Amino acid sequence: MKYWKKLSENELRERVADALDRNVDYRNKTILGVPASHLDEKVFYGNASFLKDAPFLSTMIHNPNHIGCHTLGESESFFAGTQKIEKELIALVAEDILKGETDGQDGYVASGGTEANIQAIWIYRNYFVKAHGATMDEICIIGSEDCHYSLDKAANLLNLQFYKSKVNHLDRTVSPANFERTVDDAISNGIKYVIGVANMMTTMFGSVDDIEMMTDLLSGKNLEYKIHVDGAYGGFVYPFSCKQSKLDFSNPNVGSITLDAHKMVQAPFGTGIFLAKKGFMRYVYTEEAQYVQGLDATLIGSRSGANAIAVWMILMSYGPHGWFEKIHILQYRTDWLCNRLKEKGISYFRQPYSNQVAIESRFLTKEIVEKYGLVPDTHTNTPSWYKIVVMEHVTVDVLAPFIEEILTRV
Ligand SMILES: Cc1ncc(COP(=O)(O)O)c(C=O)c1O
Repeated sequence: MKYWKKLSENELRERVADALDRNVDYRNKTILGVPASHLDEKVFYGNASFLKDAPFLSTMIHNPNHIGCHTLGESESFFAGTQKIEKELIALVAEDILKGETDGQDGYVASGGTEANIQAIWIYRNYFVKAHGATMDEICIIGSEDCHYSLDKAANLLNLQFYKSKVNHLDRTVSPANFERTVDDAISNGIKYVIGVANMMTTMFGSVDDIEMMTDLLSGKNLEYKIHVDGAYGGFVYPFSCKQSKLDFSNPNVGSITLDAHKMVQAPFGTGIFLAKKGFMRYVYTEEAQYVQGLDATLIGSRSGANAIAVWMILMSYGPHGWFEKIHILQYRTDWLCNRLKEKGISYFRQPYSNQVAIESRFLTKEIVEKYGLVPDTHTNTPSWYKIVVMEHVTVDVLAPFIEEILTRV
């Protein structure tokens, strides 16, 4: 591990305090040109004594703007201290967790998985246009029908077709034949450039796509392709639970990855992470962002530096071993749940390395669904599945009464 080391509370506090000292202080320096300041003092008490022990809240009050992508070189100098921590966070995730080369990736803390996925599709669309002279109707997205709806948003916003492969109902995999049918369908409609999306745990099922099957098949066709990994759900789980994962930067076919710290990392909302191998971000530089030092290659524009600090603090307070243990405790609880369901003959889907279980709706009643806050695969039609996500608060003690109840009521 190059960047990821467990830090004590004191060390975290000192690092963040030092970073804030390197940012501009609106109170002590005359800053006239920035449309920002510290948080409003009538509501947010900047001098509260507890702030010295609360690095995240203190960063919120200082209110740094992390506009732009700081791994690309020049950035707004006003917030250089906290931007440096964001850069370290990006390197930690890209290199220490996702096996990227040293300084081989760019990235930033996005508003969430939706933005990070749209950023990826935006980059590849522009790459195919600028580097290959593609026309818009020659580029498409291909993924499974279990892909997150943010990819439908991306297709809609970026004016691209989205071809979806059918998955098998019970094991949620895309068969090679189904994937080939989808690719051939796209080719027959004039597609020459494909943005392939591989899921590292889908939203509803926690299923993981077979990236080798996808890239073997795409390589055999007469087209250009790039692969984005959607790890919004699994990015902080799967690399720890599945040692043989191919969904990381050591795979030459993977160009970019989305993660979400506001899911399994329990960071505040607004902490998606977008990562791409070096060389891709330049396809979305907005040259017109002339007033921003270093320009802007992100979709979001202004964003809170406190979000990056929150994610960095959480990961550094666990350290790599602590995080590994945490994920394995969640895996243990998920195993426990699945063993009980199996013993009782209740039909469910679980990808072996995920902390998510989807139960077929015929085994559940409306009362159980409501009492235990299960989430359906659809709110508009009759659900086929309900999911359980084994998070920090979902202990075996919480799962046991659910299992008891499911048996007596069904
Ligand atoms: C696989 C996947 N991708 C993308 C997203 C979108 O993330 P967000 O809600 O943070 O925008 C989600 C959200 O659940 C997801 O599960």
